[in-house]
Amino acid sequence: MKNSRNIKKFLKIVFEKNKLIASIAFVIMLVISMLDLSIPQVTRLILDDAIINNKTNLLIKLVLLYAIISIFSALFTVILEYIYSKMKKRASIKLKIRLLKHLSKLSGEYYTNIKTGNMLSIIENDIFIVENFGAEILFSLIVDGLTACIALFFLVRMQSDLLLIVITLQVMLTFIQSKFTKVIAQKTEEVRKDSGNISNIVQEYVSNIMNVIISKSSFNFFKRYIKQEKGLINKCIKLDMIISSNISASMILSSLITICIYGYGGLKIIKGNMTIGELIAFQQYTGMLIGPCINIIRSNTRIQQSLVSINRIFSILDEPIIINQDNNSSIIKEDFSGNITFDNVVFSYDEDRILDNINIEFEKGKLTALVGTSGCGKSTIVNLLFRLWDIDEGKIMIDNIDIKDYNLKSLRKNISIVTQDLLLFDDSILNNLTIGNKNISKKFVKDVCNRVDLYDFINGLPNGFDTIIGEKGVKLSGGQKQRVAIARAIISNSSIIVFDEATSALDNISQKKITENISDLLKNKTVIVIAHRLSTIKNADKIYVIDKGRVIESGNHEELILNESTYYSLVNEQKQELALS
Ligand SMILES: Nc1ncnc2c1ncn2[C@@H]1O[C@H](COP(=O)(O)OP(=O)(O)OP(=O)(O)O)[C@@H](O)[C@H]1O
Ligand SMILES: [Mg+2]
Repeated sequence: MKNSRNIKKFLKIVFEKNKLIASIAFVIMLVISMLDLSIPQVTRLILDDAIINNKTNLLIKLVLLYAIISIFSALFTVILEYIYSKMKKRASIKLKIRLLKHLSKLSGEYYTNIKTGNMLSIIENDIFIVENFGAEILFSLIVDGLTACIALFFLVRMQSDLLLIVITLQVMLTFIQSKFTKVIAQKTEEVRKDSGNISNIVQEYVSNIMNVIISKSSFNFFKRYIKQEKGLINKCIKLDMIISSNISASMILSSLITICIYGYGGLKIIKGNMTIGELIAFQQYTGMLIGPCINIIRSNTRIQQSLVSINRIFSILDEPIIINQDNNSSIIKEDFSGNITFDNVVFSYDEDRILDNINIEFEKGKLTALVGTSGCGKSTIVNLLFRLWDIDEGKIMIDNIDIKDYNLKSLRKNISIVTQDLLLFDDSILNNLTIGNKNISKKFVKDVCNRVDLYDFINGLPNGFDTIIGEKGVKLSGGQKQRVAIARAIISNSSIIVFDEATSALDNISQKKITENISDLLKNKTVIVIAHRLSTIKNADKIYVIDKGRVIESGNHEELILNESTYYSLVNEQKQELALS
């Protein structure tokens, strides 16, 4: 049920916008099959008419006809391959894009539990496997079926008793192959799963190599890796052996069929019940019966293998989009002012309540800070505003409109979050700052860089703003990365900017300087700052102190100090630490 539904969906993707080219391929395939089917007739005429009756002219004509048929058949095959190749690539790129796009629409919960290696294995390996499934295999099945039927028709007309022997052997062949097919599909799935697990381990190792070395965990990695690889080797060998046994068994039975044709057919010729031409034509038609039948059976193996991959691909594509993208599609207006209200918000990631009746206001043009011990739920508040997760109870509103009623894309476009770990692209520093947006003036970018103390550094790079950074290029220090992140958020010009521990890698003096420099650019925005270092948020218009998912105090610095409660003790603790150090 699930299989056929997924195949249908997959074929829809393959044939979408490819109907004309697919029809051409189908016609070409039919023509090739007809050309091939005519060859035994020409052979029979060459042997039984031209040669036996010494007709040289006829012989030349027939040989020429044979050559023309073969050339056209070969030519059409090349054209067919071209069409298939084009269709295959188009479909697989389409699938990849669909997968990657769908991934961007899923929820924080999905992203938290995602297994990168497995995902990569689906995007690379499974899509590669299903590339060969689709028009090619489908059309081959139809044309093979047709070819086999026509060949059978000729065979019945020629020698039905000889055909009976051939068919008996053929049935045996089919039976054995179908048994093998099931086992192969099952083993392939096991191998595919294990490969995914290995990819996960390798991906974890490679993408964190520096941390792996620092945490001295490479031994642990190799132990896990080798154990998995050993298991996989055994499974792969078993699978290869099953596949080759399958091929050998069918080869033996095929030879048996040839032996029967020459043995029994030869006897019939000796007795005068058959001509040599008929024998050769019979053998050729037998090939045209058995070949397609084997193809159909082999296709079944490939279909089973592809099915595993198709199901894996759709396991992602069918992942429901929990975060509704477009509730009633009221796109955020240009004059979006950005007053945010958390109204009795309740939220849990799993079972445990993380936010318990939170009431917070973030006002436009004001700097609001969230403080509290690690794990109290500060970043969670930001995740909810960005709708990585949807809340369980209560309401989050911007300008008195529930955020669920905004178009998700516009909502996110209007919020910039600066976190500790910045995503750097393997691209120029300019594109890293503008995220590829060409409409941003370089003057503005330079100004922002100046304010966050990046301009001199960038100017000193070999190609200035065009220097490649990221994976292949210049490496940045922790502090420089944070400056890029801050600059990027300001350049994006979102109405709401969140700094979540955005200056933790900067020293006090740099941080103060940058804060002062950018303050006028943030004047009309809703600014949310999360910081452990309380000196960062001293000047905030409002500070919320969060504890165990609840707001326990709020006010500005002076008010909270006068309160002599949690904030007051946090400030004192930090002062003491500073004094001690
Ligand atoms: N993706 C997630 N899935 C499940 N639980 C999570 C997830 N992210 C965070 N949590 C849990 O939610 C709680 C709040 O996490 P959150 O990241 O909001 O804390 P925080 O206040 O930002 O802490 P920190 O100051 O250390 O950054 C923590 O107990 C954490 O274990
Ligand atoms: Mg946090």
